[in-house]
Amino acid sequence: MSRTGKYIMGASLRWGANQSNRTKNILKASSPRTYSSTKLPPNSDGSESQHLALAPFTSEPLFRLTESPNPCWSLAEGLPSSNPSDLSGSWKTDEEDGWKTWEMNKTETRDAYRLLTSAIIPRPIAFVSTLSSDGIPNLAPFSYFSMVAHHPPLISISFSLSSKRPKDTRENILATKEFTVNIISEPFVEAANATSVEAPAEVDEWRISGLTMAESIDVKPPWVRESAVGLECGLFHAHEIRPPGSDEITHTLVLGLIKRVHVRKSVMKDDGTVDAAKLRAVSRLGGTAYARVGEGFELPRPTWKAMRDGLVPKKLEK
Ligand SMILES: Cc1cc2nc3c(=O)[nH]c(=O)nc-3n(C[C@H](O)[C@H](O)[C@H](O)COP(=O)(O)O)c2cc1C
Repeated sequence: MSRTGKYIMGASLRWGANQSNRTKNILKASSPRTYSSTKLPPNSDGSESQHLALAPFTSEPLFRLTESPNPCWSLAEGLPSSNPSDLSGSWKTDEEDGWKTWEMNKTETRDAYRLLTSAIIPRPIAFVSTLSSDGIPNLAPFSYFSMVAHHPPLISISFSLSSKRPKDTRENILATKEFTVNIISEPFVEAANATSVEAPAEVDEWRISGLTMAESIDVKPPWVRESAVGLECGLFHAHEIRPPGSDEITHTLVLGLIKRVHVRKSVMKDDGTVDAAKLRAVSRLGGTAYARVGEGFELPRPTWKAMRDGLVPKKLEK
């Protein structure tokens, strides 16, 4: 049995006696999906994933800072014509294959989803904890997620709505106006991924994951103790999204005001920032793929003063 299979079975054995039989059966029916090393689970839209031979995960930290790809790049050079690794050269040659273009208002929703979620990457993931108005806890991951502002400190999450089933996280945020966002790190990504199961509202995904609730200070929903970063948030604004010319609400964009931040001391740097090498945050790619934060490179921001004082090529000066 795969590790995933074992894990879900462990979770169902710990299932509390106060859960309804219906809930238990739903969990049982949807859970013992085993992932082998060569066959990936189907995509969220039900389509078959590619069969891939997957190398085992290596736990060594990947992160180190290097030079930028073209450290000798000079102003107005564009795509460098030569590069020690020949990266720019092959990028230029590939351009000869041409472009494929989608007219989005004529593209099927499913194809738009597959195209955009594989192209707009990597996406950070909000692991969102909420409580229903009856106090039932809920936990689920969302990758239509970003930082929007730091003054005031705001994040955005977008919920895709389905006519078949509401997103409990969205319902809970709109009803209670409170939530926590937690950053997912490699050591507990399987537990976080398990909470994406489309379980009925009465199912507590915390129990499916085995993760631990940490008491929040400014909001009622707990944050995730295993997360190195937990954000206590209040609802700042909710905006319903409709396709042009349609009354149908297809997404809800939520802006959250960060009221309090918890950061595990072991991932902090002395300068008061979070160390990417230690955080080991995961992000979302297309299909069922996740990404690790691999190598980074340093590329200082240009200043106009430096450009003006002798570095600006003549053709840019006018
Ligand atoms: C990594 C990951 C990212 C996801 N991102 C989103 C997202 O941005 N928006 C969305 O509506 N659903 C997203 N989903 C699907 C939800 O997690 C899933 O529908 C979940 O069942 C919602 O739970 P809830 O109904 O308890 O809120 C994502 C799933 C995974 C595994």
